Amino acid sequence: MTPEEFRKAGHQLIDWIADYRQRIPELPVKARVQPGEVRAALPGQPPGGADQFSALLADLDRVIVPGVTQVQHPMHFGWFPSNAALASVLGDIASSGMGTLGISWESCPSLTELEEVVCDWMRQLTGLSDQWRGTIHDTASTACVTAMILARERASGFSKNGAGLQGVPAPLVVYSTAQAHSSIAKAVQLAGFGNDNLRFIAEDPYTRAMLPEALASAIEQDLAAGNIPAAIVCSVGATGTTAMDPVAAIAAIAGRQSIWLHVDAAMAGSAMLLPECRHLWQGVEQADSLAWNPHKWMGTILDTALFYVRDVAHLEAVMSTNPSYLRSAADGRVTQYRDWGIPLGRRFRALKLWFHLRLDGVDAIQARLRRDLDNARWFARQVEAAEGWEVLAPVPLQTVCIRHVPTDEQGQPLAGDALDAHTLGWLARINDSGAAFMSPSILDGRWMVRVSIGVEDTTREHVERLWALLQREVHKP
Ligand SMILES: Cc1ncc(COP(=O)(O)O)c(C=O)c1O
Repeated sequence: MTPEEFRKAGHQLIDWIADYRQRIPELPVKARVQPGEVRAALPGQPPGGADQFSALLADLDRVIVPGVTQVQHPMHFGWFPSNAALASVLGDIASSGMGTLGISWESCPSLTELEEVVCDWMRQLTGLSDQWRGTIHDTASTACVTAMILARERASGFSKNGAGLQGVPAPLVVYSTAQAHSSIAKAVQLAGFGNDNLRFIAEDPYTRAMLPEALASAIEQDLAAGNIPAAIVCSVGATGTTAMDPVAAIAAIAGRQSIWLHVDAAMAGSAMLLPECRHLWQGVEQADSLAWNPHKWMGTILDTALFYVRDVAHLEAVMSTNPSYLRSAADGRVTQYRDWGIPLGRRFRALKLWFHLRLDGVDAIQARLRRDLDNARWFARQVEAAEGWEVLAPVPLQTVCIRHVPTDEQGQPLAGDALDAHTLGWLARINDSGAAFMSPSILDGRWMVRVSIGVEDTTREHVERLWALLQREVHKP
């Protein structure tokens, strides 16, 4: 494709994207396709010659769009928001279009230095001190693997330079809670600690926050057994109920034993753009590493995960390789992001954040986040006040965990498997109708529904519409 052909097709594609975004509210929220349907609509053999751009666009509409669950739909309340602000989409297009290569400062100085600048802007915008330096990962999952490797290497005295974990005389242990996102357990496994050395610490039965005294005693037990406490993962906004572990109390315990403290604020990091929310991660300055996703609620399109550390020298000591073919005269004077994480080649992700911040503006992003917090509080109040409905957990941000508990024929509240069947039944009816989408989760062994408010286009009117829909649907057989 020549630049001129690209120009023509590109204009059409931008028009297509703009039209598509405009018509999202008319589409069913949940993808209506059956497993295998998209694959069956595509040729099994690769194309030989070149196709027309118009044919490709037609297939986008015919085959691909029906297979998309519309997470930008204003009636999408599933998982966590995965906003894709159009300003950031432009940055993503610029990033791909420029075709840069990020393998060293020299391979694209602007890629490195813009990343330094936007990470520092985000640091300031979330109220972090200048002790922190950041980078952009694809996801919070990758950031957590990185953090666990940093913790492993600190606790093991750089075992990687010798026999690795196989040469460490005692087990290295990681502490978290059962509320932590599944990526935490995965990171602990992938970093070589093993499931046997992941301790789920007791939680407060209502807030689901880690109990610091339980953490302290688990650490004591491990020390007494000759084990090596290596890392604590603190969830600031755990996925199920947005549980907030008490960072300050946990940091004090971590500090006493020099245990690596990683803060997973994948979702809640966006809230830290609002000064009034920052008490939720009070103590974060004492952590060793921190990750959060602008690609969630804040809305810089996937994949934009921020990873901050305070000890860059340790990060580089663990991650750098320094092969001869990548050395340059600038070494020692510049940041080499390849020494800050797992991959060598990196995309120009900073453009997405740069475009988003500059074109939408921080004020508008903050106003939207405040709107969502307000809508969640309104929604929680309606649910609490309605007969037969329960709000099951605190609502520190924009996700409300709910259950409808009808009475059975004997006038008793439905319980056990029958309650689960009721919950999953009304949820499936709504999701399958395409009118709205929410995702379920298990709390204390029973299903509940998470209503996660925060799509860019979701206004109070949509939340009101959802509440009316819920009240109707739970009474259907
Ligand atoms: C609390 C929390 N941590 C980590 C993750 C993983 O995020 P990512 O998809 O960026 O790996 C999520 C995803 O929803 C999450 O909610």
